[in-house]
Amino acid sequence: EKGGYDHYMLKEIHEQPTALRQAIAGRINGIEEGVDLSDLSLSEEFLASIDEIQFVACGTSYHACLYAKQLIEEFADVRATVEFASEYSIGSGRDPERTLVVGVSQSGETADTLRALRMAHRVGIRTLGVTNTVGSTMARECDDALYIRAGPEIGVAATKTFASQIIVLAMFALTVAETRGELDVTAGRELRRNLQGLPGAVQGVLNQNEDIKAVAEAYADGEAFFFIGRRLGGPVSLEGALKLKEISYDHAEGFPAGELKHGPLALVTEETPVLAILTDGTRPEETQNNVKEVQARGAPVIAIAADGYRGGHDVEFEVPDLGLLEPLVANVYLQLFAYHVANSKGRAIDKPRNLAKSVTVE
Ligand code: M6R
Repeated sequence: EKGGYDHYMLKEIHEQPTALRQAIAGRINGIEEGVDLSDLSLSEEFLASIDEIQFVACGTSYHACLYAKQLIEEFADVRATVEFASEYSIGSGRDPERTLVVGVSQSGETADTLRALRMAHRVGIRTLGVTNTVGSTMARECDDALYIRAGPEIGVAATKTFASQIIVLAMFALTVAETRGELDVTAGRELRRNLQGLPGAVQGVLNQNEDIKAVAEAYADGEAFFFIGRRLGGPVSLEGALKLKEISYDHAEGFPAGELKHGPLALVTEETPVLAILTDGTRPEETQNNVKEVQARGAPVIAIAADGYRGGHDVEFEVPDLGLLEPLVANVYLQLFAYHVANSKGRAIDKPRNLAKSVTVE
């Protein structure tokens, strides 16, 4: 059932190219054509009239929302906010008629996320559920549902669904932008091209599994691990750290690279590997300064870097040219890194201690 892999997590990491193709199928039909999200019944009038999109989610799905928020603001020029579902409140000064709440959940059963969506619904806000699970509570209760079509995810650590959530939300961003007359033709074409190129780029990372394993094993004894990146690299840093701590039980932290010198730098030593995202959409030139700061403290640096940003790091992994989806390609390196660190320690990767695949209590 694990298809020859030792763990569901590893199998699901490898299923990403297929999952991504399924998410795109019929929705992007060519670089020149608009995105077809006809499974969504939100009217054009409504999408054109909203002045805020509020995302609510937990864990990995929350990180996907942080990425999507930036894409929505970039492409559709509409305010987007992201809240932990467990912390959600509608906020003052919001017009329910001009607000859309988007819940994002792999399982569609996360209690905190369902609660936030119900709160919004109660005050008359329209809700959209983005989920992997057809017939889930989220899909049934929301006004609209958008499926990510990633196929079943069994490992407690969310992997393929993170990428699928982000690309479905990227297509949603294109739809909102187009409806509102905000879509820049060239930028839209480029994002569609990159969406189509993503499965191949992810496959390119998967093909390096053995190299990533060797690096993970070489650094597995680190005292703590830090993940840094800016802009779209921020959510990916958070996600990289979450994955590592969840399955390896090592201390890991991710944060926007600029925050490093405001505190966490005190923890950086020769024993704390730093994984840095240096790609398009992450202000790599600025992050390079932070990389120098940690190198000055002796920390080994593993750079996940696009052309032009490699050179001078202890380890370098390549990210191909894929515009604003490059951080998503970088994330696949981080997934495999976490997997191999945890596996080298003999952890219960598919069922980490204290955790459940779907969290149905608040
Ligand atoms: O099913 P959901 O997407 O709502 O689940 C949310 C979180 O519980 C989930 O992403 C959790 O953080 C994962 N175990 C992370 O790998």
